[in-house]
Amino acid sequence: MEENTKITPWEVTSTTGIDYLKLINQFGCQPIDGKLIRRFEKVTKMHAHPWLRRGIFFSHKDLDLALDAYERGEEIYLYTGRGPSSESLHLGHMIPFMFTKYLQEAFNAIVVVQMTDDEKYYFKDSLSLEEANRLTRQNAKDIIACGFNPKKTWIFSNLETVGGSLYRNIVLIMKQTSGNMIHGIYGLDYNNSVGQFSWPCFQAAPAFSTSFDNIFKGEQIFCLVPMAIDQYPYFKMAREIGQKLGFKKPATIQSRFLPSLEQAHDKASSTGEKEVIFMNDPRETVAKKIREKAFSGGGMTKQEHIEKGANLAVDVPYHYLLYFLDDDAELKHIAHEYQSGRMMTSEIKKRVTEVIWEVVKEHQEARALITDEIVELFMNPHRDFDRSRHSRESIDHSHDEQHLGFHFDPYFGRHRPTGESSHEK
Ligand code: TYM
Repeated sequence: MEENTKITPWEVTSTTGIDYLKLINQFGCQPIDGKLIRRFEKVTKMHAHPWLRRGIFFSHKDLDLALDAYERGEEIYLYTGRGPSSESLHLGHMIPFMFTKYLQEAFNAIVVVQMTDDEKYYFKDSLSLEEANRLTRQNAKDIIACGFNPKKTWIFSNLETVGGSLYRNIVLIMKQTSGNMIHGIYGLDYNNSVGQFSWPCFQAAPAFSTSFDNIFKGEQIFCLVPMAIDQYPYFKMAREIGQKLGFKKPATIQSRFLPSLEQAHDKASSTGEKEVIFMNDPRETVAKKIREKAFSGGGMTKQEHIEKGANLAVDVPYHYLLYFLDDDAELKHIAHEYQSGRMMTSEIKKRVTEVIWEVVKEHQEARALITDEIVELFMNPHRDFDRSRHSRESIDHSHDEQHLGFHFDPYFGRHRPTGESSHEK
């Protein structure tokens, strides 16, 4: 990656825009192409999620092996997580959870969600341990509201849980992890606290099923980890160490970052530096943020816009539609109209406001129904988890294999490079 781009689990900065192809190469992952998407549909008998078709979940490691295993009748479990550092999740955080919910159905899978109250205490100076633990339950409501199956999902706070089989695996991992390895992968050094330095071992351990005797009773089950690509370094490490320990190496599936409202090629984050949409924002706030902050690739003046059209590559409203407008025909229509200057910035902002508010509103309605008792149910380790598998009817597969996934053209034919004639409106 160029020097002006930095991607770690704690920091994503780039002055030139994130080059996802370079990231894949740097991390040693593979792109998700049309062929793999077809295979996914064949094996799971589910239509590919729009985020797969549109190349948003764009990269993987061993997803093909996970599909092979599932096809042979083996069980797959899913592992993902959240660092509870804000009262509510933002739209970007929802991407892996909404997708994991889809994968839970696709693979009939158990899902384990690690709530890293300890991590956030180590890495965020202003956060007390008690507050991080309180936020765990608030954030768990956002996660449950995605629609996870309670019989197949365990959400756990590290602070309350580490011990037993999970701690046993953390200890095995710690013994295999040198300080040099931590420094090399994450850039942490003597200036970091011991909590920070040892943290990666805690995030890696749930990628091994033997961490969860309460669910898997000591069996080795194939793990698939959905996440945005900033979290991948943990699993590169987990794969290396897992191999040494004789564990099944976890497979991974990584998404791009939903951008902040202010820049189409960065990562929405809750640090407060750039504007993002939170899942508890009221309608007026969503509308105001989009109206005032969403970076536009439209022309400076109406005349210029009509003549030259919009630059979709830098246009944040368009990028948000790519994520959240499921209707392919409408997306293509908007791309053509806006690129050709027939559609105005105000119109696309109006449409994206409707689309995003629909997502946020549905989420708020679902979350309002999640009581404290429901949270306790999802966090209870001592219950029978449903590991059964249901059969499903075969489906028609996606046809346009060539242009799916990594090769999907989000601009439908007319591409202007990132950064060209960009301005804020
Ligand atoms: P956290 O809380 O920072 O983020 C939670 C999940 O959201 C993803 N994410 C995004 N995805 C798309 N667009 C964005 N703008 C965006 N911002 C964040 C993150 O990649 C993550 O998947 N240490 C982790 C918690 C964790 C975890 C895991 C995550 C523990 N175990 C296993 C993934 C897999 C954290 O602080 O995530």
